[in-house]
Amino acid sequence: MSGYENDPAGYAAYVAQLANEHIPQEEYDQLVEPYREAMTRLEVRMNGLNEDYRKKYRDYPIHNIQARIKSRKSIEQKLAARNLPITAFAAKDSLTDIAGIRVICYFTEDIYSILALIKHQTDLLIIKESDYINSPKSTGYKSYHMVLGIPVYRIEGMQYYPVEIQLRTLAMDLWASMEHRICYKGQTPDETTDAFKRYSDELFEMERRMKHHLDEIRKDNPQEPMQ
Ligand code: GTP
Ligand code: MG
Repeated sequence: MSGYENDPAGYAAYVAQLANEHIPQEEYDQLVEPYREAMTRLEVRMNGLNEDYRKKYRDYPIHNIQARIKSRKSIEQKLAARNLPITAFAAKDSLTDIAGIRVICYFTEDIYSILALIKHQTDLLIIKESDYINSPKSTGYKSYHMVLGIPVYRIEGMQYYPVEIQLRTLAMDLWASMEHRICYKGQTPDETTDAFKRYSDELFEMERRMKHHLDEIRKDNPQEPMQ
């Protein structure tokens, strides 16, 4: 747990808080219901855009989409780590990743095509945007993150709910999955950390070369077979 290295009392309080405080299941279910709707709407929208893109440009930028709602335990842990009350109210007030979708593209260029499409959607709010592709994290992590506000309609009216969207290529996803398994938020030997920084660049280079092959094939055969 970062931030508690020189604060054992604070860490003990954090552990005690985790052990004792919970968001009741019923409150959790109520909390996440509109986030689930917002997430589904965004997922459906992304699939629709991918289909349109495929018809228009005979190209399909998205390999697959994953969607998840943050678990009750994970919400409780994040609130505790931020020293916030362990309540549904605090979660709604301060967390923007209760709902998340991950869009896995083939190539880096595809991510920017998808981004342009998203920015054309006049009903979506862009709440936050971080380009970890042009500015990778110190670990070597690459992805494009956005928090989008998705309109959800209820009898009382419309409210925007945040959904975190992570756009990455298959190569970036391979890196992030391996790094999460092997290094992320754990005790990692320096040589492993250094190796992962190199792998990030190597995977990026491999993806670039694969794209080059595709471009060469398309030059000879613009009507590339569709899947
Ligand atoms: P979190 O509290 O972890 O959600 O971080 P944040 O709210 O500051 O957002 P940030 O954009 O830094 O990261 C959000 C998510 O991106 C994380 O939950 C991970 O899924 C992913 N991520 C960020 N950095 C790394 C990394 O170095 N390695 C891996 N594998 N994933 C990362
Ligand atoms: Mg997160």
